[in-house]
Amino acid sequence: MKTTDKIELKKGFPALLLKWNREQNDRQMPWKGEKDPYKIWLSEIILQQTRVEQGLSYYNNFIKTFPDIQQLAKAKDEKIFKLWEGLGYYTRCRNLIASARSIAKEKKGKFPGSYEEIKALKGVGPYTAAAISSFAFNLPHAVVDGNVFRVLARVFGIDKPTDTTEGKKYFTQLAEELLDKKRPGLYNQAIMDFGAVVCKPVSPLCATCCFKKHCIAFQRDRINELPVKEKKIKIRKRWFYYLVLEHKNEITIRQRTERDIWQDLYEFPLIESAVELDKKTLLQQIEKRKLFNNKEAELISISTLFKQQLSHQLIAGQFIKFKVKRKFPGTGSWQWIAKDKIGKYAFPRFINQYLKEKTGRQSLF
Ligand code: ADE
Repeated sequence: MKTTDKIELKKGFPALLLKWNREQNDRQMPWKGEKDPYKIWLSEIILQQTRVEQGLSYYNNFIKTFPDIQQLAKAKDEKIFKLWEGLGYYTRCRNLIASARSIAKEKKGKFPGSYEEIKALKGVGPYTAAAISSFAFNLPHAVVDGNVFRVLARVFGIDKPTDTTEGKKYFTQLAEELLDKKRPGLYNQAIMDFGAVVCKPVSPLCATCCFKKHCIAFQRDRINELPVKEKKIKIRKRWFYYLVLEHKNEITIRQRTERDIWQDLYEFPLIESAVELDKKTLLQQIEKRKLFNNKEAELISISTLFKQQLSHQLIAGQFIKFKVKRKFPGTGSWQWIAKDKIGKYAFPRFINQYLKEKTGRQSLF
C-alpha cells in the first residue's frame, strides 16, 4: 500500500468503525456500557479465555452472588471456585480472589482508577487493563487482542506475525494510533464487537463490511491468510486413569495442589501415563501402587473413553470404579466424603463429564 493511502486509511478507520457501531452493531452484553469497574473487571477476567456465550451465565451468577467487591473478598475460596467450575484456566479464579482481597484490604474496597494500578492487579495484563480503564474511566488505552490483530492485519494488510515481540509491538503501536482518544471505551468495545461479529476468523462478512473498499486483505483475496502466526502450538497428550474408590456411601477425593492444570480443583486418585494403557496394563499399574490388595477391592466398572481438549494439552482417559473394604488411601491430602456431598466440590470438566454421564445429573451414583 502506498504511504499516502495508508495515512488516509488510518485517518478514516476510527470514524468508519464508530459509524458501523452506531448504525449496525446490535450486539448486546450485560457489561456493555457498564460503569462499575468491579463488574467490568469481573467480565474481562471471565472473557480472557472464554467465549462470550459461555461467559454470560458465569458473569450473571457472580454478580448475583457477589454484587460488590467486598462480598467477593469475604467469600470462602471453595464457594468462589464452585461458581467458577467449568470455565477452565483456574489461575484466573485464584487471581480474582487475591485481587478482590487486596482491594478490600488496602483500598477499602475502592477499585483503583489508573491504568498502572489496574495493570498491577494479579491476572491483569495490558489488554485487560486497557479494557477496564477505558470502559470504566474513559482512559485512552487501546485494547490489543486476537480480535484486534485480525481486524488490523486484514484491513491494513499486515504480514507481521502476531506472536512475535516485534509483531506485537507493531500492532500495539498501530492500535494506539487508531484509538479514538475522546471515546476510548466506545471505540475499544466497537473494535472487539467488529472482530467478533463481522471480521470473524472463519467466514467473515466481507460482502457487507464497511471496510470492503479499503480492506487490503479483501482487495487482494488474502482474508484467509491474515493474520499470520509464526509458531505452531505443540499439543501434549496425557492419559488420566481415575480410580473411583467407593466405600459404603463415601468416595475419596483430593485437591490438586501442584502447579499444573486444574490447580485447586478436586479429583479422584489418579494414575497418569504418557501413553494409552490397555486393561491388563492398567490393572497392573493399579496393583503396583499398592493402594489395596485384590481381596480388599472389587472392580465394578471401567468407563468408556473421556477426552478434554485444553489449549496446549489433550487429556484422555477412563474412570475405574472399585468397591473397597477399607478407606484407602486414607493418608495425606486424601479425604473421604459422602457421595451426596460431591456437588459441593469443584471438579475439572473431564471429571464432571463422567459424573454427569453416570446419572444425567451431577451426582455419582
Ligand atoms: N472479550 C474481552 N472483552 C470483551 C468485551 N468487553 N466484550 C466482548 N468480548 C470481549
